[in-house]
Amino acid sequence: MEMDKYKEEKQKENVLIDLITKIALIAIATREIAETYFRINFWIDKIKEKPEKEAKSSFLIPEKTKLTFKNIIGFKETKSELKSALEWPLKYKELMENYDIEPINGICLFGPPGCGKTHFVRCAAGEFNVNLYLASPSTIGSMWYGQTEKRIRKLFNEARRNSPSIIAIDEADKLLPKSSGSSVQPRVISEFLQNMDGLLTEKSQTIVILLTNEPWKLNEAIIRRGRVDRIIYVPPPDYETRVLLFKYYMSKVMHNIDENVSFKELGNLTEASQKGYYSSAAIREICRTAKEEAFKNTLSSINKVKISMEHFQIALLKVPPDISTESISKYNEWKMTYASYMLP
Ligand SMILES: Nc1ncnc2c1ncn2[C@@H]1O[C@H](COP(=O)(O)OP(=O)(O)OP(=O)(O)O)[C@@H](O)[C@H]1O
Ligand SMILES: [Mg+2]
Repeated sequence: MEMDKYKEEKQKENVLIDLITKIALIAIATREIAETYFRINFWIDKIKEKPEKEAKSSFLIPEKTKLTFKNIIGFKETKSELKSALEWPLKYKELMENYDIEPINGICLFGPPGCGKTHFVRCAAGEFNVNLYLASPSTIGSMWYGQTEKRIRKLFNEARRNSPSIIAIDEADKLLPKSSGSSVQPRVISEFLQNMDGLLTEKSQTIVILLTNEPWKLNEAIIRRGRVDRIIYVPPPDYETRVLLFKYYMSKVMHNIDENVSFKELGNLTEASQKGYYSSAAIREICRTAKEEAFKNTLSSINKVKISMEHFQIALLKVPPDISTESISKYNEWKMTYASYMLP
């Protein structure tokens, strides 16, 4: 009886020891897990910082271009709108201050793809001899937490330091879109807005130009006076511009052009129709295709074949209008709502 009691006591003791050992093991394991967790986090943070330490990002290196407004073929109206928007703040800053005129902080250049938005910005930077910082969501955006905001700050600081300057944001609607519910986007937008507002309070000679093919997707907070003060439409080339663009893209082969080529006729043949509108890039493509067609003919004949209207006809069949009529209506509608009250 005594023996049974002793055994029972011993068993209880063993169970207790077993339990304590297990608890101790769990505690050690938990600590290990916690330490490993913190160690992992430490390395994650290190990795996160890494992209920042990489070579100076391309968007922080200003472009110096020799292009000027002379390199913008046609587009008389757009060119003069852009010129007048930039001339005052970039050329007459002090004089403007004398008259207590607030400088322009930002401009939005919108319009269909391939019509010349990026080209115009380069020409404007060259015309006023200012540093151009060209950034896009792919160069400034980062998958790393908080990096996009950091890069935005760096970009503005660099541009301010090297003013007079232009910060051009390509595909601005993708970097600064209307709210989508994502937790990252509001911080990026708020960082951008703060920096833009900073330019105004500091009276910095840095101008932001937003470039977009889909202006209706831009965050509303940015499209307001004090931030974006001018909205400029870059439309598909009109008749006069198309004629000039054809002449420009064929200028190097004038000696090789058949007498039957009429640039005015080409301007008419590329008039907008139900099929759509031709962009500047499409006009360049038509010229390239016509040159290739003539070259192909030359390879299969004894004599050199001149570039003729027939080659342009083939090119026109191969290169259809690349801008839909619906999209042009959308641009005009947006222009009516925003651009009209932004006029000086
Ligand atoms: N008026 C012009 N004079 C000379 N070249 C032009 C003109 N307009 C456009 N181009 C040329 O047409 C091509 C397309 O222009 P650009 O890339 O500037 O268009 P974009 O509006 O910025 O297009 P996207 O919206 O796709 O970025 C470029 O090679 C550019 O040099
Ligand atoms: Mg562009």
